[in-house]
Amino acid sequence: MVQQAKVDFYNPDTFEGGPPFDIFKELRENEPVYWNPQDDGTGFWVITRYDDVVETSLDHESYLSGHGVFIDDSVGGSELMLVNMDPPKHSGLRNLVSTGFTPKMIRRMEPHVRDIAAAIIDNVVKKGECDFVTDVAVELPLQVIAELIGIPQEDRHQIFQWSNQMIAVGDPEYSPTMDVATKAAAEIFAYCSKLTADKREDPKDDLLTVLLNAEVDGEKLEDMELNMFFLLLAVAGNETTRNLIGGGMLAFFENPDQWQRLKDDSSLMSTAVEEMLRWVSPIMYFRRTASQDTEIHGQKIKEGDKVTLWYGSANRDPEAFEDPNKFDVGREPNAHVALGAGGPHFCLGASLARLEIRLMFEEVVKRLPDIRLAGDVSLLRSYFINGVKHIPVEFTPEKV
Ligand code: HEM
Repeated sequence: MVQQAKVDFYNPDTFEGGPPFDIFKELRENEPVYWNPQDDGTGFWVITRYDDVVETSLDHESYLSGHGVFIDDSVGGSELMLVNMDPPKHSGLRNLVSTGFTPKMIRRMEPHVRDIAAAIIDNVVKKGECDFVTDVAVELPLQVIAELIGIPQEDRHQIFQWSNQMIAVGDPEYSPTMDVATKAAAEIFAYCSKLTADKREDPKDDLLTVLLNAEVDGEKLEDMELNMFFLLLAVAGNETTRNLIGGGMLAFFENPDQWQRLKDDSSLMSTAVEEMLRWVSPIMYFRRTASQDTEIHGQKIKEGDKVTLWYGSANRDPEAFEDPNKFDVGREPNAHVALGAGGPHFCLGASLARLEIRLMFEEVVKRLPDIRLAGDVSLLRSYFINGVKHIPVEFTPEKV
């Protein structure tokens, strides 16, 4: 007989209305290593405590990424994708692609990212109202990642639509079926092959051109690896930062005193960015697979078992954060795990994401200071991304 799940983390309904913080609390306290059975007789472990999430992330020899990083084996792409690799293969590719993401490269982008953020606000500021997600939050990461990779302007929204369809299986607005998601992945893939061929012919000053020519130990990237990296960036760069910007704004609506505090003291911006990351945790989990029989917290884990790490739960663990359910823009220290908990897969785009969030909110604080909620918020239905699709807002329009 198939065991019934007490709480099913594979069912998007569990995340209706946002991450299930009450359930996380109960699991952290009573069943920190929880077995979530699935209908096909298999299942996966759910890790909810901060210390366990960190320990499991750091121990990449016992907990592999190479068998996939999603609960479902059929989503998540190929073994040629960086997130799905283990050292030493992972280290070679990661070193190579990191050349495009050094702090120096990111600092160089700052004036340009600031201009993009300002242009996004220019577009809405005279209207007095907008959808904060589709008009603001979506645009910045999309434009930045497209610029970074070298995607022509006219193709950018098509890429966005494909990447939406890929991550939102189960949400009817974006991707009604798995078939749509699979087709979207194939289309991104075909698009990348064409773009790569164009860049070979006509090199430009962008990441794709850099990667085409970069070498590790005398080896260049294979076409397939390049395609996969492109796919990963399109999804990782778009689906995360925009949900952070949207979710961060919601946190301020729920905590207007913190919005006022930030407006009064701009030196709080960097701690505010970290607090938004902790609070929203846009990526809810990643999975690992046990390479051998092992143990977490006294619970035996068998070789081959799937182990899922719940970042949003770790980020509300009272053992790691004082008063974890308080949104505090001045929080320090704040060693959240929204970008990963260390180890080889720590978010490659971390500096870029932080830059985007900071510049976007600097612009919102300055130009839409009295921004307020003006209707119903619509959340993404997903067990992977803590996402928000629509946030109607209003504000005093800027005079012409
Ligand atoms: C708020 C925004 C973001 C969040 C919350 C986020 C979160 C994460 C997390 C949790 C991981 C996995 C960490 C681990 O397994 O230890 C990750 C990996 C990754 N992220 Fe991000 N990310 C964000 C923005 C970005 C951006 C803007 C980019 C690219 C431009 C990016 C590219 C990547 C890549 C390529 C990986 C895989 C790295 C590897 O496997 O070595 N991310 N991210």
